[in-house]
Amino acid sequence: MNIQDFKKEVNRLKKEKDAFIIAHYYQRYEIQEVADFIGDSLELSRMAERIEQSTIVFCGVYFMAEIAKILAPHKKVLIPYRNAGCLLADMAEVRELRELKERMPQAKVVAYVNTYADIKAEADIICTSANAGEIIKKMDSDEIIFVPDKNLGSYHSQFVDKKILLWNGYCPVHERITLKAIERAKRGNEDALVIVHPECPPEVTRSADFVGSTSQLVRFVKESPAKKFVVGTEEGTLYKMREAAPDKEFILPDPIPRCDQMKMITPERLIKALKEEIYEVSVDEETAERARLAIERMLE
Ligand code: 13P
Ligand code: SF4
Repeated sequence: MNIQDFKKEVNRLKKEKDAFIIAHYYQRYEIQEVADFIGDSLELSRMAERIEQSTIVFCGVYFMAEIAKILAPHKKVLIPYRNAGCLLADMAEVRELRELKERMPQAKVVAYVNTYADIKAEADIICTSANAGEIIKKMDSDEIIFVPDKNLGSYHSQFVDKKILLWNGYCPVHERITLKAIERAKRGNEDALVIVHPECPPEVTRSADFVGSTSQLVRFVKESPAKKFVVGTEEGTLYKMREAAPDKEFILPDPIPRCDQMKMITPERLIKALKEEIYEVSVDEETAERARLAIERMLE
């Protein structure tokens, strides 16, 4: 199916099924083309509560669709590929977190949004890459357990005078964006600014010109007077960057950062999801209730 036919079919099905499509920036370009809303994790969480349609089709990884279900429990939330997981979210384990909480009863738990509902239910508050610094600063505790991304946690811990215990998790896609890869991308592009996601390793975030969530990176390239950027995040983000700043140049490090989990959502699977109303996301009520409290504390 060519892109025009794909768009037509999606629009027809959206009306028929009273559906709204939300997509993360790391989705395939064709998916971003048909999405009603594209955003970073924070914006997607905020959006979930405001959708009027009865069905939300979530084009992203499973934990993101779970948030939509938690915040909009009466809606039908579909994910076109059920096993689109997040390798970082898989690194947190609820039993170990509970043990850690018992060992550090005075510590507050800040869970990155890239976690499943059972981990969120154990947290005092959730954060995203867009607000992690602010949330850590505002916590009324000098001791924090930060789960599961050690890179994001270590990036923000340098700005506060708090004891932060970092979970030993990381995103394998961003972990591969090494300082060497950034330096290689800069070669011959010395005038380019280096902008990276805070999930990158500490030596990369430390040496970057700007560090931010996917939305913050897109906003930065639009507003910056610079014309060239080495972009240290998943390649899908370039779709919106090119739209936001068509006269600017974007260089990705080699190997190209690509989240295969995000790319599991294909045009064919999206059509099938709309037609057959699959796969429905569910979260058990008790876990959802506790996770909702932690998410709402963040949104406040
Ligand atoms: P954002 O919060 O920037 O959308 O990042 C989510 C993510 O999965 C990054 O790998
Ligand atoms: Fe998870 Fe990394 Fe993919 Fe983001 S890029 S969804 S953190 S595996």
